[in-house]
Amino acid sequence: MAGKKILLIIGGGIAAFKSLDLIRRLRERGHSVTPVLTKAATEFVTPLSVSALAGEKVYQDLFDLNDEAEMGHIELSRAADLVVVAPATADLMAKMAAGLANDLASTLLMATDKPVLIAPSMNVRMWEHAATQRNLKTLLKDGILTCGPNEGGMACGEFGFGRMAEPMEIVGALEAAVNDGPLKGRHILVTSGPTHEPIDPVRYIANRSSGAQGAAIARALLSLGAKVTFVTGPADVAAPMGVDLVDVQTAAQMLEAVNSALPADAAIFAAAVADWRMANAADQKIKKDGNGLPVLEFAENPDILASVCAGNKKPKLVVGFAAETQNVIENAAAKRKRKGCDWIVANDVSPSTGIMGGSENDITLISKDGAEDWPRMGKDQVAQRLAAKIAEALG
Ligand code: C5P
Repeated sequence: MAGKKILLIIGGGIAAFKSLDLIRRLRERGHSVTPVLTKAATEFVTPLSVSALAGEKVYQDLFDLNDEAEMGHIELSRAADLVVVAPATADLMAKMAAGLANDLASTLLMATDKPVLIAPSMNVRMWEHAATQRNLKTLLKDGILTCGPNEGGMACGEFGFGRMAEPMEIVGALEAAVNDGPLKGRHILVTSGPTHEPIDPVRYIANRSSGAQGAAIARALLSLGAKVTFVTGPADVAAPMGVDLVDVQTAAQMLEAVNSALPADAAIFAAAVADWRMANAADQKIKKDGNGLPVLEFAENPDILASVCAGNKKPKLVVGFAAETQNVIENAAAKRKRKGCDWIVANDVSPSTGIMGGSENDITLISKDGAEDWPRMGKDQVAQRLAAKIAEALG
C-alpha cells in the first residue's frame, strides 16, 4: 500500500507510551505521522520524544499563532488521509460524541472530513460505564471506526476490557480503513484452520491443517481493500492483522460464528472442518482402567459450506475447498454440485505432494464453466490470484 498521511491524536492515558511504538510501526510501513498531543497526554509522553519518532513537529495548542500561520487547524485536519486517536480516553470519546471543540484535538476531530479511527483505552469500569457505552454507540452511528479495546490486565491492577489495542492491530485496522482497492466496501468471510472436536478435556480429533492458505487468502483480500471476517480454528499460523477475528475450536462453534458474520458479499471456506465429533464428549479425562479399550461413538458435524449455500443468506460468491488424495478433479467437481457452491479450489494433498503444511500449492479451480488448472506456486500467490478473480467476479 502507498504511504498514507496519518494525523495521530494522542490522548492522556497510560497507554500513550504505546503510541510511541505505533508511530515507529507506521513509519516503518511508509506512512507519515503528524502528531497532536492533548494537554493531558504531555503528562505521559513528552512532545520531544513524540516529535523525534515522528520526524515532524508536534501540535499541541489551538491558539498557537505560529501554528495558525504554518497550518490552520482546518487544514491540519484535512491534509491527512486518516485521523487516528490513540489512546482514545473516556474524556476524548465523550467530547467527540457531544461535538465539543474546546481544545486542538477536539477541534481537529470536529473539523475533519476524513475517516476517524479510535483506539479506546481506559479502566474497565470507565469502559463499562453507561455513559461511555452510550458515547460509543453514538460514535459508531456517526461512522467512527474503532480498534479494541482488548481484554487483559491493566496498569491500574484491574482486569477486563479497556486495554488499548496493540500497535500492529491499530496499523492493520488503519490500513484496512484507507485501502481503496477493488474490494473496498465489500465484506468477505473466510474460514480457516482445523476444528478440534473434544473426546475428553485433554484429547481431541482434528484434520491436519496449518491454516496457511486461509490466512494468505485473508491477507490478499485485505490488500484489495475488503473488510474480512476471519473465522479460524486452532491453526499453526497467526491470523493476519486487520481482519475481524473470530477464534473457534469446534465445527459447531464455527457454524455459529459463520452464521452471525453473514451477510457477506463472498465467503471462502478454506477451513479443514472435522467431519465427525464425539456423540458424547467425556467431562473428565478417560482413564486406562484395565477394562479394555474405550469405544468412541461419533456423530456427524454440520456441513457449514453446504448449509450456507442452502440458506437464505447465501453470499453472491461462495468458494469451497476440496483437499483430495485421489481422483481430485472428479471428486471436487462432484463436491461443488453437492454442496451448492460456485467455485471449488481442488488440490491433491497426498503426502508425496508436500502441499500439506508446505509453502506451495497446486490447485485446479472448478466452476460451472469447467476446470482451470493453475501452475504450482506459493500459497501467497494462489491467494493473490484467487483474490483478484473474486474482485473480478464481484464486479
Ligand atoms: O466434504 P469436505 O470436507 O471435503 O468439503 C470441503 C469443503 O467443505 C471445504 O470448503 C470445507 O471448508 C467445507 N466444509 C465445511 N463444513 C464441514 C466440512 C467441510 O464447511 N463440516
